[in-house]
Amino acid sequence: MELKHIISTKQFLDTTILDKIFHIANDMENNDKENKLLPILNGKILASLFYEPSTRTRFSFESAMHKLGGRVISTESASHFSSVTKGESLRDTIRVISNYSDVIVLRHHKQGSAKAAAEVSNVSIINAGDGIGEHPTQALLDLYTIKKEFGRIDNIKIAMVGDLLYGRTIHSLLHLLTLYKNIKIFLVSPPELKLPDEYKEYLRNKNIDFEETINIKDIIDKVDILYMTRIQKERFKSEQEYNQLKGYYVINKKLLNKMKKSCVIMHPLPRVNEISTDIDEDERAAYFRQAKNGLYIRMALLKMILIGN
Ligand code: NCD
Repeated sequence: MELKHIISTKQFLDTTILDKIFHIANDMENNDKENKLLPILNGKILASLFYEPSTRTRFSFESAMHKLGGRVISTESASHFSSVTKGESLRDTIRVISNYSDVIVLRHHKQGSAKAAAEVSNVSIINAGDGIGEHPTQALLDLYTIKKEFGRIDNIKIAMVGDLLYGRTIHSLLHLLTLYKNIKIFLVSPPELKLPDEYKEYLRNKNIDFEETINIKDIIDKVDILYMTRIQKERFKSEQEYNQLKGYYVINKKLLNKMKKSCVIMHPLPRVNEISTDIDEDERAAYFRQAKNGLYIRMALLKMILIGN
């Protein structure tokens, strides 16, 4: 399958393409460790266009491009420093930037923006987060992390905890999980932040076994993967509403002691207070390794998009 745009994880129809991505990512990691990376993207330009803040996604995409010999053009904060401040539409901006680059990595506050961008772009669009919609490259690195840390993706029990309403990484990861066998999903959230019905309907249609609960103690000793998320402060209408929910789940030593010895604790980061820092050194805490995997997954994706498999 040729990879052009990466807009939604729903575009990945089976695990063959995922295995391919993971294989290339693994090669990238090994070559990077041995200082054997080749400048295969020499002459290519990546434009990073971020209308929302980012640390990992932007830096890892830019680092990936540099490591493979490509170049990067970017704006510090697209909503402040691009012609959007003069009233230009996203579509016009994309039309223009796609003439100056070979791939555009776009993060935007509006759901559906990456799809709209792809409709007018001459070059590949990578969705780096479209509001409360999706974050497909994060889901790919999440799955890669599960595979590396747990050794398999089939036959796992995974809990997704926190903001399932606004968390776009959850929305993207759920679809990818439906491509694997015998997956059990626990959806753990406050009543206000439950997974939207459309995603639950999707899981039902795919015959995925899932359960919703408010209480993390119900599931903590049962799961192989604990996927924590940040309560998405920027999506709330009022500060007060956010403040009521922000400390809802906190993984601390006490909860850690109830978890399986083999459990893998993940988080797309940034964390606020969902995971107490005093468990960072526990070997089950995989979130910083997860963030590093993002570099190799994005190197693999750039290679596949810009020069093929
Ligand atoms: C996530 C995002 O932007 O959706 N961050 C990331 O890319 N690693 C998660 C978040 O912001 O909570």
